[in-house]
Amino acid sequence: MKVIGICGSPRRGNTEWMLIRLLEAMARRGADTELILLRRKKIKGCNGCLNCEAGGKAREGICTIQDDMQEIYPRLLEADCLVFGTPVYFEMLSGLLKNFIDRTCPIWPRLEGKLLAGIAVAEEGIGKAVDNLRTYGSVCGMRWSGYVTALAKTPKQVTEDKKVDKKLQQLAGRLIGLLNA
Ligand SMILES: Cc1cc2nc3c(=O)[nH]c(=O)nc-3n(C[C@H](O)[C@H](O)[C@H](O)COP(=O)(O)O)c2cc1C
Repeated sequence: MKVIGICGSPRRGNTEWMLIRLLEAMARRGADTELILLRRKKIKGCNGCLNCEAGGKAREGICTIQDDMQEIYPRLLEADCLVFGTPVYFEMLSGLLKNFIDRTCPIWPRLEGKLLAGIAVAEEGIGKAVDNLRTYGSVCGMRWSGYVTALAKTPKQVTEDKKVDKKLQQLAGRLIGLLNA
């Protein structure tokens, strides 16, 4: 049971804390977990060349851009479950996470069947952010498996919200159940 959390916040804030809590809870139940902090990675924007789909065989695709995505691709392919975490920016997912998502172009068909869950944090309203994550999962044929949202503004504000933590523990249990099924 390999689970990878991907954090799309540029700061050590609420999204990161929520992903850590979720992954800790899943690790306690036997999952092999990993957190990828996109703020620490050098990931260039997709250049749209579509060479990764050369011959229409995206399943065999590789990306020609040499950066930190190259070490991330095999880890994504090994995972059974991905959890995308995003701060809400202008009622959408963050640019950092969208940039990462675009760079999954060479491998997206091979994500089919994996579990996908989401975490989103906004000051006032989640807007379309969870829908954005769910849509990506749908395009890839992933199994949308739940989400937790929170309202917070300052970096560690969500740590005081016991209800959010309870929802994270519940989501961890649900994901473990699906992975064991
Ligand atoms: C560029 C930018 C755009 C934002 N847009 C929204 C928004 O549309 N709605 C909202 O409720 N909060 C918005 N926020 C507030 C963040 O979602 C909020 O501070 C959240 O806690 C950030 O999560 P983090 O701590 O994980 O980075 C925005 C913040 C920034 C920096």
